[in-house]
Amino acid sequence: MIKQYLLSPGPTPIPNEVALAMSETMIHHRTPQFNKVFEEARQGLKKLFGTKNDVLMLASSGTGAMEAAVSNLFSPGEKVLVINGGKFGERWLNIANAFGLNPVEIKIEWGKAVKIEEVEKQLKAHPDTKGVMIQASETSTTTLHPVKEIAKLTRGGPLFIVDGVTAVGVLSVPVDEWGIDALVTGSQKALMLPPGLAFIALSDRAWEKTKGAKLPRFYFDLNLERKNQQTGSGAFTPAVSLIFGLRASLSLMEREGLDQVYARHARMSRATRAAATALGLKLLAPENPSPAATGVFLPDGIDADQVLDYLRDQMNVTLAEGQDQLKGKVIRIAHVGYMGAFDVITAVAALEMALRKFGVEIPFGRGVAAAQEILMEALA
Ligand SMILES: Cc1ncc(COP(=O)(O)O)c(C=O)c1O
Repeated sequence: MIKQYLLSPGPTPIPNEVALAMSETMIHHRTPQFNKVFEEARQGLKKLFGTKNDVLMLASSGTGAMEAAVSNLFSPGEKVLVINGGKFGERWLNIANAFGLNPVEIKIEWGKAVKIEEVEKQLKAHPDTKGVMIQASETSTTTLHPVKEIAKLTRGGPLFIVDGVTAVGVLSVPVDEWGIDALVTGSQKALMLPPGLAFIALSDRAWEKTKGAKLPRFYFDLNLERKNQQTGSGAFTPAVSLIFGLRASLSLMEREGLDQVYARHARMSRATRAAATALGLKLLAPENPSPAATGVFLPDGIDADQVLDYLRDQMNVTLAEGQDQLKGKVIRIAHVGYMGAFDVITAVAALEMALRKFGVEIPFGRGVAAAQEILMEALA
C-alpha cells in the first residue's frame, strides 16, 4: 500500500488547488501583484472570523498568535483567568507565566467542558481580572468549551481571548457578534494549509488596551503589523507561498459555503461518534464533543499507541495519540479541514481492522454501518 491517509488534527491534508497555488513562481512581496493576493486573503479571513476588524497574518505556528495576544494586551503582573482543560489550556498558563502575568487557573477534568457558573464564580472572586483565556475546541481532549456563553460574562469586563486553532473553519465563531476580544488560529487545521501561518483578530476594545499594554514585544507587535498589513503585506517578509495557498483555501471554503463547511464537520464528527459507540468504545468527551476530532478510549489492556503505530506503519492511516495521562489509553480521530464522508469511513474501517489485529472481538462493518447511516443524510 502506498497511499497515505492523514487523519490527524493537524497538520491536515492539502487540497490540490491549494498545493498548486503554493507552487506559483516566487514573486517579490513589496509589489502591487503580491499586495493584491494579500488583500484578497485579508478580506476572506474577515468573513471567516466574522469581524469588521483586521485579521492579521503572522509567520509562525498557532502558538505565535497565542503569544502575540498575551504580549500585546497585558502589562506585567496583571491578573488573568485561564481555563485549563487540556494541553492547550496549559499552554495559555505557560505563556501567561512566561510573560509575568498573574494567572488564576480553573482546572477542568480532561474530557469535560468548563461550567459557566465556575467562570462566573471566579470572576466574582477576582474582580481585578483583566483577561479570560480559553480554547474554543481543546484538541487534546476533543472537547468544546461554551465560548458564546462565556463571552456574555466578559462583555464590558475582562478581555476574552479565545484559542480557535481547531475551531475557526470548523464551526461558527463570529468574533463581532459574540463579543470575543481576541481570536487566534493556525494554518494547518481547517484552513487546509501546511503549518507556518498564524492569524489573530482583535476587538475594538482590545485594540484600545494594546495602547497601554507594557509587556515587551518586537516581532509580534500587532499595532506595527496592523499598520503595515492595511497598506501592504506586513512589517517583515511574509510567508509568500503560504499566502498564495491561503487565498486558494479561503476561496474553496467560500465556494462550498461556510454553513456547509460547518455542517460537514458536524456530520463527520457525529458519524465518528456513532461508529465508536456502535463498536462499544467509550468517548473521551461524550457531553461536549468538538466537531474537529473525536477522542475514543480503547478497551482495557490494549495499548492505544501500539494500535496507532500499527495503523500508521501497516495500514498508512495516521490518527492521533492521547497526551499525558491519556497516553496509551485513547486515540483521536480527526475530521477537520479537507476531509469528508469517506475519510470517516476509512478511519473507522481501519480502526476495526487494527482492533481485530490486537485481539478485540468486533464484527467487521459495525462501526462503518453506524457512520454510513449518518453520512447518508448529506446525500440527495
Ligand atoms: C487548540 C490548539 N491550540 C494551540 C495549538 C498550537 O498550535 P501550533 O502547534 O500551531 O503552535 C494547537 C495545535 O494543535 C491546538 O490544537
